[in-house]
Amino acid sequence: MKAVFMSIAAHPRVKQRRNDFDFTSAGPDSPGGKLLRRSWQPVYISEKLKAGSLVPLHVFGERFTLYRGESGAAHLVGFRCAHRRTQLSVGWVRGDDVQCLYHGWTYDASGACTARPGERPPGPCATASIPSYPVREHLGLIFVYLGEGEPPELPFSGFSRPGIITNMSFEMPCNWWQSYENVFDEAHAAFVHSRSGSHADLGRGAEVETEITETAYGFDRNTWVGDGPRRVCLYPFPNHMRLYIGRVKGLANDGPWLEAFLSHIPSHDEHHTVHMAILIPLVGTDAEDYREKQVAIRARIEGAEPVDEVARDILAGRRTLDDVLDHPLLLQVEDAVAQGAQGPLYDRTDELLGRTDIGVSRLRRVFERELGAISSGGTTKTWNYANQPDPSQGF
Ligand code: FES
Ligand SMILES: [Fe+2]
Repeated sequence: MKAVFMSIAAHPRVKQRRNDFDFTSAGPDSPGGKLLRRSWQPVYISEKLKAGSLVPLHVFGERFTLYRGESGAAHLVGFRCAHRRTQLSVGWVRGDDVQCLYHGWTYDASGACTARPGERPPGPCATASIPSYPVREHLGLIFVYLGEGEPPELPFSGFSRPGIITNMSFEMPCNWWQSYENVFDEAHAAFVHSRSGSHADLGRGAEVETEITETAYGFDRNTWVGDGPRRVCLYPFPNHMRLYIGRVKGLANDGPWLEAFLSHIPSHDEHHTVHMAILIPLVGTDAEDYREKQVAIRARIEGAEPVDEVARDILAGRRTLDDVLDHPLLLQVEDAVAQGAQGPLYDRTDELLGRTDIGVSRLRRVFERELGAISSGGTTKTWNYANQPDPSQGF
């Protein structure tokens, strides 16, 4: 594979000739997939996986079975039974094992076959194992490690402030890389989010300045307008983000800033999920009041139409953004529409980058370096996720 991205920093309006450098693929054999598999990845919200239940997972171009044993521990194993390849998520959890629906073959959390009813002998079978993967629960999310060798440290150890941690996921109707490029692109906010008003204070959003710095853990992004304060967002490599996302609403005075950790998790080329852990930095009676209010807010979010489905409807012309102003995840719908409007997997061959794309450019060049090292068998950067500062909200 050959790197053909031109340096748009030196030539900000130069046209990219080709898209040979594949940022977008996430399958196990692609350089991008190998890169993503080097990090712990959140794939599910912990509280949604009840003890004794199984779910099918489609992430990073592969299918898996995620389940929670009766002990309360979460486990990730292969998608299909070793016998006649039945989908294991339609089977049963037995203790901390999973049993296939079809003929009852059973596997423990390490993927070892512990029983084959009807076979002689019906007990464990060393040749009938299925894959299994490390799992950790952190910040209300289920993280899995799909890479080779010993897992690294988590991409983010936890929030520095006390408070309530809540979780949210939403689906996006496009390739994951489109959304990850988007979160390096503050200039979109003034336009894409003009309805939700998430960046109302930005006002002159089109004049936003951006500075991207590569760090030991990934990137820092500084953005500011004129002489205003700087907003700092962090990007633990390769597909995570930390940011302040607005103030806690409904308090007597302006509430404290909410902080989020989020990850863009590809399922296949044309779809991905964003998993979030959100810190609501309230304690004591403020926290209790908030929890009560949150019941109604969460019910509205849970009952809302999925973000990707609303976006597809809008992209098909059946509705407009102005028809969905009361959607509780309007900001996410706005992003899904903007990014879906580039196409489910957009062709970067004919784009024309400009000054506001500095973040996108910087991101691409670092990925280009790392993907090139993976493709050529060279040395990739060892990321160090310790000692991350907190993000900040500049405007
Ligand atoms: S296919 Fe799973 S036990 Fe037969
Ligand atoms: Fe956005």
